[in-house]
Amino acid sequence: MDYFKYSGNELFCEEVPVRDLAGKFGTPLYVYSKRTVLEHFEKTKKAFAPLDPLVCFSVKANSSLAILKALKAAGSGFDAVSGGEIFRILKAGGEGNDIVFAGVGKTEQEIRAALSARIRMFNVESGAELARIDGIAGSMGAKAPVAIRVNPDVDPHTHRYITTGKRENKFGLDVVAASAMARGMGDFSNLRLMGFHMHIGSQITRVEPFVRSIEKMLALIADLRAAGVSVEWLNIGGGFGIIYTDKDKPPAIDDYAKAIVPLLKNRGLRLALEPGRFIVGNAGILLTRVQYVKETAEKLFIVVDAAMNDLIRPSLYEAYHRIEKVEIVEGEEPGSIPADIVGPICESGDFLGKDRYLPGIRGGDLLAVFGAGAYGFSMSSNYNSRPRPAEIVVDGSAFSVARKRETYEDLVRGE
Ligand code: LLP
Repeated sequence: MDYFKYSGNELFCEEVPVRDLAGKFGTPLYVYSKRTVLEHFEKTKKAFAPLDPLVCFSVKANSSLAILKALKAAGSGFDAVSGGEIFRILKAGGEGNDIVFAGVGKTEQEIRAALSARIRMFNVESGAELARIDGIAGSMGAKAPVAIRVNPDVDPHTHRYITTGKRENKFGLDVVAASAMARGMGDFSNLRLMGFHMHIGSQITRVEPFVRSIEKMLALIADLRAAGVSVEWLNIGGGFGIIYTDKDKPPAIDDYAKAIVPLLKNRGLRLALEPGRFIVGNAGILLTRVQYVKETAEKLFIVVDAAMNDLIRPSLYEAYHRIEKVEIVEGEEPGSIPADIVGPICESGDFLGKDRYLPGIRGGDLLAVFGAGAYGFSMSSNYNSRPRPAEIVVDGSAFSVARKRETYEDLVRGE
């Protein structure tokens, strides 16, 4: 569900024709629908409402201050994985109590910053990290709230790069090690055990891996409680899949909730969730303009002004993003030759889409790359010395610049 719709043969974001935005702000351009973001947030809250969840938007998916501000105003918490993300959350008006902090490599400086901000809890990923947090908290006269991240060794059936809860992944501790850590918590005078965390992967399109993982977590918690360890929180992470193509059939958020809520009801546990992609994925498009159409013996290449530095998902994960013309010409049929939509970067891996059949493409046409709201701009870079795109947030018939397009001067700042 999103608010990018064709009307009168052209694409609108909410009530704004995106052609106007491209004309005003240039391309490549990220355009976000605020209404889509907020509806996904509300849907998540509502689906899990019987458990009164703390929904912590995963900032890595889209760290634009404008998006964080909108979510904060809607009552969202935040999942951070770096000092930079904590800085952004605070800049956007978020408070310490809104923040949970995961990641296998938290530095001393990041832990200090998190403690100063009085975050809600650390999601601890190793014994060495736990000891480090204890030491730093002690030196600051603080008591650090920690949840232990468990690696439940469950296959989420997603791309291997975004699988995080299998034994061979670097994340969390196995159930036995997590149990030992929880029991040994008394050795650390500057820590307070809040509960457990898991995040088994991203773009998961089945309910079953969540259920299996949660069952493992519940067994662990029951065991520990029987041994007198108090456990308040269970954070089940993010990973809810979205629709990128008609072939994707992820469960609706209500279906996930239908399976998960009964498992957790009346357990005396507080639930946290860390959705990223589900909130923002379909709330953003990348607009790009066709520069050249090049026909070879093999293929048609549609060369556009966006590239892998702007949206790396197709190159990195061979991810599929729907690509459509912004303006539809009545009666034009899809071409008969498969076309690759490619950027100007000097790598054959620089493509946004492969083997697509788009109708009547000419230089100057505007294309929309859908599903670009999550892990789009947030994974962008300056590769090939390309200034990063502007980001626009649409709200009804209004729009604002969330981030200006970078300039050449921005490229050399700091050198
Ligand atoms: N919590 C933790 C601890 C995470 O590491 C992640 C994502 C999330 C929550 C949010 O997951 P989501 O709900 O968005 O699936 N760049 C990749 C995705 C990487 C996800 C990393 N962790 C992509 O573009 O597909």
